Amino acid sequence: MKSAEIRQKFLDFFASKGHQVVASSPLVPANDPTIMFTVAGMVQFKDCFLGKEKRSYTRAATSQKCLRAGGKHNDLENVGYTARHHTFFEMLGNFSFGDYFKRDAIAYAWEFLTSPAWLAIPAEKLMVTVYASDDEAYDIWHTVVGLPAERIVRIGDNKGAPYASDNFWTMGDTGPCGPCTEIFYDHGPSVAGGPPGSPDEDGDRYMEIWNNVFMQFNRDESGTLHDLPRPSVDTGMGLERISTVLQGVKSNYETDILAALVKAAARETGVAYSQDQPSLKVVADHIRACAFLVADGVLPSNEGRGYVLRRIIRRAVRHGYKLGQKGLFFHKLVADLAGVMGDAYPQLVDGRQRITDALKAEEEQFARTLDIGMALLEKSLEGGKTTLDGKTAFTLHSTYGFPIDLTADICRERNLALDMAGYERELAAEQERGRAAGSFKMTAGLAYDGEASCFHGYSETSHDATVIALYKGNEQVAQLAAGDDGVVVLDHTPFYAESGGQVGDVGEISALGGLDALFDVTDTQKVKSDVFGHQGRLARGALKVGDAVTATIDLHKRHATQRNHSATHLLHAALREVLGKHVEQKGSLVNAERTRFDFSHPKALTAEEIARIESLVNHVIMANHPVDVAHMSYDDAIKAGAMALFGEKYGDEVRVLKMGAFSTELCGGTHVGRTGDIGLFKIIAEGGVAAGIRRIEATTGEGALAVVQAQEAQLKAAAELAQAQPGELLGKLEKLQAELKATLKEVAGLRSQLALGQVDTLLAKAAEINGIRVLVTELDGMDGGALRELSDKLMDKLGDGIALLAGASDGKAAIVARVGKALTGKVKAGELANHVASQVGGKGGGRPDMAQAGGTQPENLPAALASVPSWLASRL
Ligand code: ALA
Repeated sequence: MKSAEIRQKFLDFFASKGHQVVASSPLVPANDPTIMFTVAGMVQFKDCFLGKEKRSYTRAATSQKCLRAGGKHNDLENVGYTARHHTFFEMLGNFSFGDYFKRDAIAYAWEFLTSPAWLAIPAEKLMVTVYASDDEAYDIWHTVVGLPAERIVRIGDNKGAPYASDNFWTMGDTGPCGPCTEIFYDHGPSVAGGPPGSPDEDGDRYMEIWNNVFMQFNRDESGTLHDLPRPSVDTGMGLERISTVLQGVKSNYETDILAALVKAAARETGVAYSQDQPSLKVVADHIRACAFLVADGVLPSNEGRGYVLRRIIRRAVRHGYKLGQKGLFFHKLVADLAGVMGDAYPQLVDGRQRITDALKAEEEQFARTLDIGMALLEKSLEGGKTTLDGKTAFTLHSTYGFPIDLTADICRERNLALDMAGYERELAAEQERGRAAGSFKMTAGLAYDGEASCFHGYSETSHDATVIALYKGNEQVAQLAAGDDGVVVLDHTPFYAESGGQVGDVGEISALGGLDALFDVTDTQKVKSDVFGHQGRLARGALKVGDAVTATIDLHKRHATQRNHSATHLLHAALREVLGKHVEQKGSLVNAERTRFDFSHPKALTAEEIARIESLVNHVIMANHPVDVAHMSYDDAIKAGAMALFGEKYGDEVRVLKMGAFSTELCGGTHVGRTGDIGLFKIIAEGGVAAGIRRIEATTGEGALAVVQAQEAQLKAAAELAQAQPGELLGKLEKLQAELKATLKEVAGLRSQLALGQVDTLLAKAAEINGIRVLVTELDGMDGGALRELSDKLMDKLGDGIALLAGASDGKAAIVARVGKALTGKVKAGELANHVASQVGGKGGGRPDMAQAGGTQPENLPAALASVPSWLASRL
């Protein structure tokens, strides 16, 4: 039975039992910072279990794409070495949200597995485990299902802490959890391994196929379990594992989908297909993880999810390298994957090019250092060392891009120990150096435990306040003197502190009451989430804690920043409209001069796309929509269509910014009142910053006007120079270029005629080497063609002599070597030409009597020519 059919049967079975079939959610959990990836089918239903969310159904079934790499659920290290572990896999699951519980869950699972109408697995091939104290589950298996006692195993807390057990399932460190019962399939005595709970349970004979979790508790940060509002059910059956059973094979990698990928991996790495080659399995597993991650919006990077993706790609590439594939290969498997899984996951087909490009770019990047990194590793092991030292592991990481788990993987393969402590020490030292080298940053460890600052900057530009803390540099002080650099903390402030990409406000803080103190604020940063630090210098007077002051922002700068920030939202929406919904914000910087916006998109924008985006944004500006601000719950905001940033943490209540129907985004920044306030929007640059990430820089208002005026002035100046009106400049330039080309051709012709007329003068320069006439000369401005023509004429007169002519034109060197027929036994023209070319950054070739060459360093020609006589003398 094909995997696709099993997937469908599962959903059909549970639909027939009143379950709502729900689509798989993305691999990146929505708005859940407690886990990195979707590790199980229940992740998208977490709030249903916790009673925080109500849906129109209380029973659901899914086939969910899951990823277990990085974080609490991590199988990365096992991939390739066991028959049943994966980073990416599909989990079939049925769920009850306060509806049925243990009895029905067990009955459904048993019926689906063993009934002849469904999977028809022989009952005697199955055994189960229950949580040690779960008598209820034990009794259902024993008395209701009729399973004999020897095929029901109780498993207690076998992982070193209360509730840490194979039979107690938890999603993360916190969240819904509960005891579970697991169903195992026995592959029979031909496979090594013992039943669950036995010392050799890790073998592949007994394979866990289905986990039924009885969700009863919510675990909090302290580890305490709280009862869930209603007992629920969460189950998970790996599609790959159940396919193994139904396809009568011993390993997940032999099932239809994965076997096709193992074959593709063999093809692309140039080795024979084999199920005994861990590296092929690693590649087959990893292409699924990587392709689905990119499809769900993750791109390789140096932190968070992006770093997990980078680690998996690099691990796959290294395994290909181990198989002897030194070229790029991994991205080519995307096509195979789309072939076997594209029906169930159309995103693989739609996004194929984008996924391929992203993987290829990462492969290319790693390919540059993999080879040298491996050589370094080999060298450090010279002399039969059995431990890889921490310093080398760190250099591999920092200089050659080897994630530490990749290095650990290599060590494991070769039975080498890895000095992890040494590696950590090097890493810590590097981080310390980084910190020390960084300039004074007020947020770096400013001690503060006073009251919070109250922010008024959405509506006010100036506010009276009291100084509640002062810092000279990083040191907390009671007062500042004139000339001191430091930080001022106020109880009230209109200054926006840098966040969400918008820079901090600048302005001034002046003391009231005749104290005449003036503090120039050059930046505003958060000391803590709700404490604002005004950074700058006390220009005059003295400032003490407790002083009453007025804080006033630089309005001109603030307004310009607001224009750029509001325009950024419009740009974001316009990009999604013009380029597609795959565009996601990857970073932004907004200041008074411009906005810099990074986003995911696989290729450079065309001039036409840029023009469309610019027009679209300007149209929305001209529509002069009010910029509405509303506060609501995160969920309501998302329902209202607000764009939230990927992986960003939001509080319960969020601030939603709306500009007409065009843009709705969560944002804490400061903005214009109406879109019309933005003025002109102008894109000034577009480029790539990393694989799959583009950057647009744009400006608005006065900034945009200045850009346009500067461009206009340049155009005018150019037109004047070309003696044309600006509107006619293009035609005029084309004409001038054609004239120039014709003139250059004429000049070249004249030059060679001139040279031809000089044949006799040139011949007079010929020297004699060991009785042979040799002419070595440089002819300014002559290209290869002209030199050749001239050399024909020269050789007519030189007979059995040698000529080496060189010229420089257009920043390039041209060389022609001629050797009389009788001499080619001693000197080959090709060798002579190459002797010169190699000294001017080039090479060439030709016949024994005539050869041409070029080079990129014409400035080296004199020295190269000077070396010719002695070179010839040794041969003639
Ligand atoms: N959530 C359970 C698991 O992943 C079913 O095993």
